[in-house]
Amino acid sequence: MPTQSTTHPNVWIFEHPVIQDKLTRIRDCETDHATFRSLLNEIAGLMFFQLSRQFKSVHSEVDTPIETTVGSRLADPITLVPILRAGVGMTDGILGMIPEARVGHIGLYRDEETKKPIPYYCKLPSDIANGPVLLIDPMLATGGSASYAAKVLQDHGCEDVQMVCLVASPEGVRRMEKDHPKLKISTASIDRCLNENGYIVPGLGDAGDRIFGTV
Ligand code: PRP
Ligand code: URA
Repeated sequence: MPTQSTTHPNVWIFEHPVIQDKLTRIRDCETDHATFRSLLNEIAGLMFFQLSRQFKSVHSEVDTPIETTVGSRLADPITLVPILRAGVGMTDGILGMIPEARVGHIGLYRDEETKKPIPYYCKLPSDIANGPVLLIDPMLATGGSASYAAKVLQDHGCEDVQMVCLVASPEGVRRMEKDHPKLKISTASIDRCLNENGYIVPGLGDAGDRIFGTV
């Protein structure tokens, strides 16, 4: 399981050596976009597998070919909400673990000057509040995008929301602590800082561009 950060109690860090190995390959500027995308999905699946231990289940009768027995099923529908675009780069890895999850989308991009999120799309299941929601974005930089998306989910009545990212900055974590103090964040790393362009240092560059080969 991830380790709770000592400085940011809402943040859980995946120190698992397999995840850290893949993160290091993702950070490498020589990694091509196909490899980047596949490593990112692999990490997302590994993270989800551990996080999903917390999901509620209920006893459920099942007729095997031999007899009726009692098994267990997930109690509530799970919804993944990737922030477009880069969040899409983690979604297939999670769907590989739970194909029945619903997928809502929130489209945001950062204005290059102000660094503020500009919304352009939102499509969520109408009953999204009926189960756990995973907000997905590899990068938590200034926190503007994640904070905006979490507010959209809050306005849709969602109470059980957590964020899954790959790399967070201390600035982004603090912004989320201030705007959404109850929201738990899981990440593979809290990096050192943001640079003057709002990029995470050391980070991995522009996640969307590296996933989709639009560098
Ligand atoms: C990236 C990233 C986050 C956002 C993080 O998206 O995927 O959504 O930046 O930055 P923030 O914490 O400062 O808001 P970007 O705006 O580059 O859009 P894209 O995914 O479409 O490339
Ligand atoms: N968005 C990215 O894709 N990378 C960063 O480092 C910051 C924001």
